[in-house]
Amino acid sequence: MEVIISPTPDEAGKLAADAISELLQRNPEAVLGVATGSSPLIIYDELGRRVAQGSLSLAKTRAFMLDEYVGLSADHPQRYRNVIQDEFVDKVDIDPAQVSGPDGLAVDLSSACEAYERAISDAGGVDLQILGIGTDGHIAFNEPGSSLASRTRIKTLTGQTRRDNARFFSGDIEAVPQHCLTQGIGTILQARHIVLVASGRGKAEAVHQLVEGPVSAMWPATALQLHPHVTVLLDTAAASRLQLASYFIETYQGKPSWQGF
Ligand code: F6R
Repeated sequence: MEVIISPTPDEAGKLAADAISELLQRNPEAVLGVATGSSPLIIYDELGRRVAQGSLSLAKTRAFMLDEYVGLSADHPQRYRNVIQDEFVDKVDIDPAQVSGPDGLAVDLSSACEAYERAISDAGGVDLQILGIGTDGHIAFNEPGSSLASRTRIKTLTGQTRRDNARFFSGDIEAVPQHCLTQGIGTILQARHIVLVASGRGKAEAVHQLVEGPVSAMWPATALQLHPHVTVLLDTAAASRLQLASYFIETYQGKPSWQGF
């Protein structure tokens, strides 16, 4: 696990965009995994700038979303497919038809989850997965107690996550759906490279557990310790509880320039 601590969230976002640019230079048809929420917005903005400048193209990529609320109407602005459209697809040159997410409006949700797993695997798997982290240590919507081997399935959101996400629903926790479909931790661990971004003091405990805690379903993000290629991009506030912070800073300062991500 590589941990990079930047002075600001913007710096961390630029590094994530660098990792994506490096990948797409090697393989323009790479498959991206995209997250919603606040954390990746700096990445999508930066990718948008690079596409507008002509230094990057996502025209040949495919993208798979991590999760989706169950039951939000097709035109609901907080439906994750719509959020991804506004925050990512509309800013870059990816073909919208090549962006997929779990179907939170399916009549048969279990079959929709199985179909989503098949779609990811038929696409050859995810090359680079962007992740955020919840204050309770969730990745995608794998809440504490989730199986570390789980696959895409229906989950119930915790009260904490619904409170955290109420800000997207005019502060109304009751408007935040109780259920979601989410890639499982086992699904996420199959991505070839995982890039997790976190900023702000509110994430510091979850980040400490992710990087330095014991692997445990109580902090689902700790499963990433089992993955061979994870990059954790933090601002100083999110890194403020790391015991190894100065080691990570030294390591990054001394990183050979040829090494890349
Ligand atoms: C979103 C997702 C969630 C968020 C997490 C952090 O697709 O899967 O795990 O990444 O809740 O959200 P923000 O970035 O809004 O703090």
